[in-house]
Amino acid sequence: MTTDLLAALELRVSYGSRTVLDGLAAGVQPGEALALVGANGSGKSTLLRALARLLPADAGTVLLDGADIARLPTAEVARRLAVLPQGPVPPSGVTVRELVEHGRFPHRSALARPTAADRDAVRDALAMTGLTDYADRYVDRLSGGERQRAWIALTIAQETPILLLDEPTTFLDMGHQLEVLDLVARLRQERRLTVIVVLHDLNQAARYCDRIVALSGGQVVADGPPAQVVTEEFLVEYFGVRATVSTDPVTGAVVCLPYAAVPPSP
Ligand SMILES: Nc1ncnc2c1ncn2[C@@H]1O[C@H](COP(=O)(O)OP(=O)(O)OP(=O)(O)O)[C@@H](O)[C@H]1O
Ligand SMILES: [Mg+2]
Repeated sequence: MTTDLLAALELRVSYGSRTVLDGLAAGVQPGEALALVGANGSGKSTLLRALARLLPADAGTVLLDGADIARLPTAEVARRLAVLPQGPVPPSGVTVRELVEHGRFPHRSALARPTAADRDAVRDALAMTGLTDYADRYVDRLSGGERQRAWIALTIAQETPILLLDEPTTFLDMGHQLEVLDLVARLRQERRLTVIVVLHDLNQAARYCDRIVALSGGQVVADGPPAQVVTEEFLVEYFGVRATVSTDPVTGAVVCLPYAAVPPSP
């Protein structure tokens, strides 16, 4: 039996005849922040989408608090986990407030008017992402970073105990990247959230997450605390870069500084 809050067991996921994940095992403990890392095409988004039940498993299971996620009612899954997919398509003609209100649908019965709790959750999510003044702007007329924050606000308004985020810092400038990651860290403390986040920046993964799971070719190739996973050999093997690896003097987290690409073997 697993004590994971969300876990993939012997998971196989395919797109048509192309199998991307096969026999994969990974899970997150309650309250943990897990970073999923790996080169482009390694299967991170596929795994995250399968964990969120956005993609069906061909074989194996995803367990949400011990129950087969495939058998749970959709609204129940949406009350327990919120997902920010990679590159969500902005609906046209929808304001930021309307987008964020979508996060409340799993909490409302059909046709019911928004409650005070719904309005509070939307207002708080807008404030936390710095979007209060953008509430009446159209999402498809925002900058890439503003739009990304609107999607993050939607997942926050959903008020789920589990947050799955696929590259939440893409499109964001350095300040807003740290703001979003600090916000997730704050929510983890305040709401005891469990988080799985896909990140390309290993230094951010090391600083903000308890554990790193690295994928390569759809397989888990490393799983452990950041300082154990992020080594010079790991960076050569799975990211094709030579880097110095040291300790951040401010945060104490492991940090890497890539200085050369490793030429591909002939
Ligand atoms: N809709 C799809 N149809 C067919 N193949 C797909 C589809 N989506 C992804 N793939 C393939 O599955 C593999 C894993 O893709 P995935 O998107 O999970 O990678 P990733 O690790 O998230 O990459 P990135 O860092 O570029 O986002 C890749 O080889 C990709 O080409
Ligand atoms: Mg991806």
